[in-house]
Amino acid sequence: MEIWNVTWLSETDSTNNELKRRADAPHGAVIAARRQTGGRGRRGRSFVSPEGGLYLSALLRPNAAPDELLHLTAMVAVAVRRAIATLGVQTDIKWVNDLLYDGKKLCGILVEWSGTAAVIGIGINCNATTFPDEIAEKATSLRLITGHEIDIPTLAEALVRELRRMDAALLTERAAWLAEYAAHCLTVGRTVRLLRVNKPPEDAFAVGLDEHAALLVRRADGTVEAVQSGEASVRGADGYI
Ligand code: BTN
Repeated sequence: MEIWNVTWLSETDSTNNELKRRADAPHGAVIAARRQTGGRGRRGRSFVSPEGGLYLSALLRPNAAPDELLHLTAMVAVAVRRAIATLGVQTDIKWVNDLLYDGKKLCGILVEWSGTAAVIGIGINCNATTFPDEIAEKATSLRLITGHEIDIPTLAEALVRELRRMDAALLTERAAWLAEYAAHCLTVGRTVRLLRVNKPPEDAFAVGLDEHAALLVRRADGTVEAVQSGEASVRGADGYI
Protein backbone atom coordinates (compact mmCIF):
# COMPACT_ATOMS: atom_id res chain seq x y z
CA MET A 1 0.00 0.00 0.00
CA GLU A 2 1.19 3.48 -0.75
CA ILE A 3 1.59 5.56 2.33
CA TRP A 4 -0.47 8.68 3.05
CA ASN A 5 -2.48 7.94 -0.08
CA VAL A 6 -6.08 6.92 0.32
CA THR A 7 -6.99 3.42 -0.87
CA TRP A 8 -10.73 3.62 -1.63
CA LEU A 9 -13.11 0.71 -1.19
CA SER A 10 -16.71 0.83 -2.27
CA GLU A 11 -17.78 -1.16 0.79
CA THR A 12 -16.30 -2.92 3.78
CA ASP A 13 -17.49 -3.95 7.23
CA SER A 14 -15.29 -1.38 8.98
CA THR A 15 -12.21 0.44 7.72
CA ASN A 16 -10.61 -0.16 11.14
CA ASN A 17 -11.15 -3.91 10.71
CA GLU A 18 -9.86 -3.70 7.16
CA LEU A 19 -6.53 -2.19 8.30
CA LYS A 20 -6.23 -4.65 11.17
CA ARG A 21 -6.66 -7.54 8.73
CA ARG A 22 -3.74 -6.20 6.67
CA ALA A 23 -1.08 -7.18 9.17
CA ASP A 24 1.75 -5.91 6.94
CA ALA A 25 0.19 -2.48 6.34
CA PRO A 26 2.92 0.17 6.69
CA HIS A 27 2.99 3.30 8.83
CA GLY A 28 0.86 5.82 6.95
CA ALA A 29 -1.47 3.28 5.31
CA VAL A 30 -4.90 4.85 4.78
CA ILE A 31 -8.15 3.14 3.79
CA ALA A 32 -11.50 4.80 3.18
CA ALA A 33 -14.83 3.27 2.24
CA ARG A 34 -17.91 4.75 0.61
CA ARG A 35 -20.00 2.83 3.11
CA GLN A 36 -19.49 0.43 5.99
CA THR A 37 -21.72 -2.51 6.79
CA GLY A 38 -20.41 -2.94 10.35
CA GLY A 39 -19.11 0.49 11.33
CA ARG A 40 -18.03 0.53 14.95
CA GLY A 41 -18.01 3.27 17.57
CA ARG A 42 -16.53 3.44 21.04
CA ARG A 43 -17.82 1.22 23.85
CA GLY A 44 -19.04 -1.46 21.46
CA ARG A 45 -21.59 0.82 19.85
CA SER A 46 -22.25 0.66 16.14
CA PHE A 47 -21.58 3.61 13.86
CA VAL A 48 -24.24 3.95 11.19
CA SER A 49 -22.30 4.33 7.92
CA PRO A 50 -24.44 4.73 4.80
CA GLU A 51 -23.15 6.15 1.51
CA GLY A 52 -22.63 9.91 1.83
CA GLY A 53 -20.26 9.86 4.81
CA LEU A 54 -16.48 9.79 5.06
CA TYR A 55 -15.24 6.62 6.77
CA LEU A 56 -11.47 6.58 6.91
CA SER A 57 -8.81 4.77 8.90
CA ALA A 58 -5.08 5.42 9.09
CA LEU A 59 -2.41 3.18 10.55
CA LEU A 60 0.48 4.52 12.60
CA ARG A 61 3.45 2.59 13.87
CA PRO A 62 4.70 5.20 16.35
CA ASN A 63 8.13 5.24 18.00
CA ALA A 64 6.56 5.08 21.44
CA ALA A 65 4.55 2.57 23.44
CA PRO A 66 0.74 2.87 23.62
CA ASP A 67 0.87 3.97 27.27
CA GLU A 68 3.09 6.92 26.26
CA LEU A 69 0.54 7.96 23.68
CA LEU A 70 -2.58 8.46 25.78
CA HIS A 71 -2.84 11.90 24.15
CA LEU A 72 -3.14 10.39 20.65
CA THR A 73 -6.93 10.45 20.46
CA ALA A 74 -7.06 14.11 21.50
CA MET A 75 -4.48 15.03 18.87
CA VAL A 76 -6.52 13.16 16.25
CA ALA A 77 -9.54 15.25 17.26
CA VAL A 78 -7.51 18.42 16.65
CA ALA A 79 -6.35 17.13 13.24
CA VAL A 80 -9.91 16.27 12.19
CA ARG A 81 -11.17 19.60 13.47
CA ARG A 82 -8.55 21.37 11.34
CA ALA A 83 -9.53 19.35 8.25
CA ILE A 84 -13.20 20.23 8.71
CA ALA A 85 -12.25 23.88 9.24
CA THR A 86 -10.95 23.93 5.62
CA LEU A 87 -14.65 23.91 4.70
CA GLY A 88 -15.26 26.95 6.89
CA VAL A 89 -16.95 24.87 9.60
CA GLN A 90 -15.68 25.44 13.16
CA THR A 91 -16.49 22.48 15.37
CA ASP A 92 -16.46 21.98 19.13
CA ILE A 93 -14.85 19.00 20.82
CA LYS A 94 -16.74 16.88 23.31
CA TRP A 95 -14.17 15.07 25.43
CA VAL A 96 -12.66 12.90 24.45
CA ASN A 97 -13.24 12.47 20.78
CA ASP A 98 -16.54 13.64 19.34
CA LEU A 99 -16.74 16.71 17.13
CA LEU A 100 -19.96 18.66 17.49
CA TYR A 101 -21.56 21.53 15.70
CA ASP A 102 -24.24 23.47 17.48
CA GLY A 103 -24.42 20.70 20.08
CA LYS A 104 -24.94 17.93 17.52
CA LYS A 105 -22.52 15.19 16.60
CA LEU A 106 -20.76 15.59 13.27
CA CYS A 107 -17.86 13.20 13.66
CA GLY A 108 -16.72 10.26 15.77
CA ILE A 109 -13.21 8.94 16.28
CA LEU A 110 -12.23 5.42 17.30
CA VAL A 111 -8.55 4.77 18.06
CA GLU A 112 -7.67 1.11 18.53
CA TRP A 113 -4.36 -0.59 19.17
CA SER A 114 -3.28 -3.67 17.30
CA GLY A 115 -0.10 -4.59 19.16
CA THR A 116 2.09 -1.51 18.79
CA ALA A 117 0.22 -0.18 15.75
CA ALA A 118 -2.48 2.44 16.22
CA VAL A 119 -5.52 2.23 13.98
CA ILE A 120 -7.17 5.63 13.81
CA GLY A 121 -10.75 5.50 12.57
CA ILE A 122 -12.68 8.62 11.67
CA GLY A 123 -16.30 8.89 10.61
CA ILE A 124 -17.68 12.23 9.39
CA ASN A 125 -21.31 12.81 8.45
CA CYS A 126 -20.98 14.58 5.12
CA ASN A 127 -24.00 14.52 2.83
CA ALA A 128 -26.70 12.92 4.97
CA THR A 129 -29.84 14.98 5.38
CA THR A 130 -31.73 12.50 7.54
CA PHE A 131 -30.63 10.11 10.28
CA PRO A 132 -32.04 6.98 11.92
CA ASP A 133 -34.56 7.76 14.67
CA GLU A 134 -32.18 6.82 17.51
CA ILE A 135 -29.70 9.58 16.56
CA ALA A 136 -31.91 12.02 14.66
CA GLU A 137 -32.05 14.50 17.55
CA LYS A 138 -28.33 14.62 18.18
CA ALA A 139 -26.62 14.19 14.79
CA THR A 140 -25.83 16.66 12.04
CA SER A 141 -23.90 16.68 8.75
CA LEU A 142 -21.67 19.04 6.80
CA ARG A 143 -24.37 19.22 4.14
CA LEU A 144 -26.90 20.44 6.71
CA ILE A 145 -24.42 22.94 8.17
CA THR A 146 -23.07 24.42 4.93
CA GLY A 147 -26.16 24.03 2.76
CA HIS A 148 -24.18 22.44 -0.04
CA GLU A 149 -22.98 19.04 -1.23
CA ILE A 150 -19.58 18.03 0.16
CA ASP A 151 -16.90 16.55 -2.08
CA ILE A 152 -15.86 13.59 0.05
CA PRO A 153 -12.53 12.74 -1.68
CA THR A 154 -11.38 16.38 -1.27
CA LEU A 155 -12.23 16.26 2.44
CA ALA A 156 -10.40 12.92 2.71
CA GLU A 157 -7.27 14.55 1.21
CA ALA A 158 -7.46 17.41 3.72
CA LEU A 159 -7.89 14.91 6.52
CA VAL A 160 -4.86 12.86 5.48
CA ARG A 161 -2.78 16.03 5.24
CA GLU A 162 -3.73 16.96 8.82
CA LEU A 163 -3.18 13.42 10.11
CA ARG A 164 0.27 13.50 8.60
CA ARG A 165 1.05 16.77 10.39
CA MET A 166 -0.27 15.26 13.58
CA ASP A 167 1.98 12.25 13.13
CA ALA A 168 5.01 14.53 12.77
CA ALA A 169 3.99 16.43 15.93
CA LEU A 170 2.95 13.45 18.05
CA LEU A 171 5.99 13.30 20.33
CA THR A 172 7.35 16.82 19.98
CA GLU A 173 4.44 19.28 19.94
CA ARG A 174 2.00 17.68 22.31
CA ALA A 175 1.56 20.73 24.57
CA ALA A 176 0.60 23.08 21.72
CA TRP A 177 -1.83 20.54 20.27
CA LEU A 178 -3.44 19.90 23.64
CA ALA A 179 -3.77 23.65 24.20
CA GLU A 180 -5.63 23.86 20.88
CA TYR A 181 -7.76 20.92 21.98
CA ALA A 182 -8.60 22.60 25.30
CA ALA A 183 -9.47 25.87 23.56
CA HIS A 184 -12.25 24.12 21.63
CA CYS A 185 -13.30 21.54 24.21
CA LEU A 186 -16.87 22.09 25.41
CA THR A 187 -16.53 19.67 28.28
CA VAL A 188 -14.08 21.79 30.27
CA GLY A 189 -15.78 24.32 32.56
CA ARG A 190 -18.96 22.27 32.94
CA THR A 191 -20.52 19.96 35.43
CA VAL A 192 -20.29 16.50 33.92
CA ARG A 193 -21.77 13.14 34.77
CA LEU A 194 -19.17 10.37 34.90
CA LEU A 195 -20.55 7.00 33.87
CA ARG A 196 -18.30 4.12 34.85
CA VAL A 197 -18.82 0.42 34.59
CA ASN A 198 -20.20 -1.06 37.83
CA LYS A 199 -20.31 2.29 39.62
CA PRO A 200 -23.16 4.71 40.20
CA PRO A 201 -23.09 7.86 38.04
CA GLU A 202 -21.17 10.70 39.66
CA ASP A 203 -21.41 14.43 38.95
CA ALA A 204 -18.21 16.50 39.08
CA PHE A 205 -16.91 19.77 37.66
CA ALA A 206 -14.46 19.50 34.72
CA VAL A 207 -11.62 21.91 35.51
CA GLY A 208 -9.20 21.07 32.69
CA LEU A 209 -7.05 18.46 31.02
CA ASP A 210 -3.70 17.01 32.01
CA GLU A 211 -0.73 16.32 29.73
CA HIS A 212 -2.22 12.94 28.75
CA ALA A 213 -5.52 14.59 27.77
CA ALA A 214 -7.19 13.01 30.80
CA LEU A 215 -10.11 15.08 32.11
CA LEU A 216 -9.42 16.74 35.46
CA VAL A 217 -12.61 16.75 37.51
CA ARG A 218 -13.29 18.30 40.91
CA ARG A 219 -15.75 16.52 43.14
CA ALA A 220 -18.09 18.15 45.64
CA ASP A 221 -15.59 17.36 48.45
CA GLY A 222 -12.89 19.37 46.61
CA THR A 223 -10.72 16.43 45.53
CA VAL A 224 -9.47 16.52 41.94
CA GLU A 225 -9.16 13.35 39.88
CA ALA A 226 -7.73 12.71 36.42
CA VAL A 227 -10.20 10.59 34.43
CA GLN A 228 -8.73 8.65 31.50
CA SER A 229 -10.85 8.25 28.40
CA GLY A 230 -11.13 4.48 28.78
CA GLU A 231 -12.37 4.81 32.34
CA ALA A 232 -15.57 6.75 32.07
CA SER A 233 -18.06 8.02 29.61
CA VAL A 234 -18.94 11.64 30.18
CA ARG A 235 -22.27 13.37 29.70
CA GLY A 236 -23.27 16.87 30.57
CA ALA A 237 -25.10 16.72 33.89
CA ASP A 238 -28.13 18.05 32.01
CA GLY A 239 -27.91 16.38 28.59
CA TYR A 240 -25.71 15.09 25.78
CA ILE A 241 -22.89 17.65 25.97
C1 BTN B 1 -17.77 6.92 17.95
O1 BTN B 1 -18.54 7.81 17.62
O2 BTN B 1 -17.91 6.29 19.01
C2 BTN B 1 -16.61 6.61 17.06
C3 BTN B 1 -17.03 6.36 15.64
C4 BTN B 1 -15.88 6.01 14.73
C5 BTN B 1 -16.34 5.67 13.34
C6 BTN B 1 -15.22 5.43 12.39
S1 BTN B 1 -15.77 5.32 10.72
C7 BTN B 1 -14.21 4.74 10.22
C8 BTN B 1 -13.75 3.75 11.27
N1 BTN B 1 -14.33 2.45 11.05
C9 BTN B 1 -15.14 2.07 12.04
O3 BTN B 1 -15.76 0.99 12.09
N2 BTN B 1 -15.22 3.03 12.97
C10 BTN B 1 -14.39 4.18 12.62
